[in-house]
Amino acid sequence: MSPEPKVPSTPPDERTPITVPRLAEMKESGEPIVMVTAYDYPSALVVEEAGVDVVLVGDTAAMVVLGHDSTTPIGMDEMVTMAAAVRRGVRTPLLVGDMPFGSYEASNEQAISNAQIFVKEAGCAAVKLERGGPSVDRARAIVRAGIPVMGHVGLTPQTASSLGGFKAQGRTAEQAAKLAEDTLALQSVGCFAIVFEAVPAAVTDALMDQLEVPVIGIGAGPATDGQVLVFHDLLGIYGEQVPRFVRRYADVRGEMVSGLSAYADDVRHRRFPADEHTYSIDPAELEEFRRYLDQDSLAASAWDW
Ligand code: KIV
Repeated sequence: MSPEPKVPSTPPDERTPITVPRLAEMKESGEPIVMVTAYDYPSALVVEEAGVDVVLVGDTAAMVVLGHDSTTPIGMDEMVTMAAAVRRGVRTPLLVGDMPFGSYEASNEQAISNAQIFVKEAGCAAVKLERGGPSVDRARAIVRAGIPVMGHVGLTPQTASSLGGFKAQGRTAEQAAKLAEDTLALQSVGCFAIVFEAVPAAVTDALMDQLEVPVIGIGAGPATDGQVLVFHDLLGIYGEQVPRFVRRYADVRGEMVSGLSAYADDVRHRRFPADEHTYSIDPAELEEFRRYLDQDSLAASAWDW
């Protein structure tokens, strides 16, 4: 865990909202970009307060929120509901909606129309889609429709089964060359940033010179322009097993279990609620109510129907 937690020095309401051009400036000036996922209103409030730059409503929600064993089952409705909840909690970070599996592959029209839903119904500023190859055309179409697109290469969880599972990518010269080709193609069609997931640090390093757009890494080494982690992984909310690239900064699950156990214990030993958790009634009102309860007619009227 991080030894020195730092609270951002600029209060949330004085921060300037992050835009796509601001991310380009950050790359230019070498200022690291901090990105994290969020899936609901409370986590959105937390990431806002912590001062992150980019919030991704990731399709990892399928796994860390909904309990599936892959990201593919989640659909547009669930993603848009979550993105809209996150929108209500964030003001400063750039909000990116992750296009779920099945929402953009079929055609450019499908991709544009679902990207528009993220913008219109959830207030996202941008969308993310996975892979190079056929996704390059989809990215170009969405960019031309006026919506900023973030690419995602390396380990692309939506197609993990065709990659042989949740495995690092680019570990052979051939795979690394494919990764380079996909990345450059996504950059050439106008993606404003690209996520590199589970890529050897040396491969990232070798590619960085050719990339004009910010690269955000997750298990891609220190050479990228920024880093992204899944909220539940970095805070220790979800499960014991995390990928190699995760550093845990908190044990929120442990805190939640201990808080709930303390609550259960207090209820069972009648220590909760205490006086300060109860409401009062004017003594005269209470007296009148008692008189009402004492009336013989009350008992009779209860059976009168
Ligand atoms: O869905 C997600 O959370 C992601 C990040 C891991 C980049 O795509």
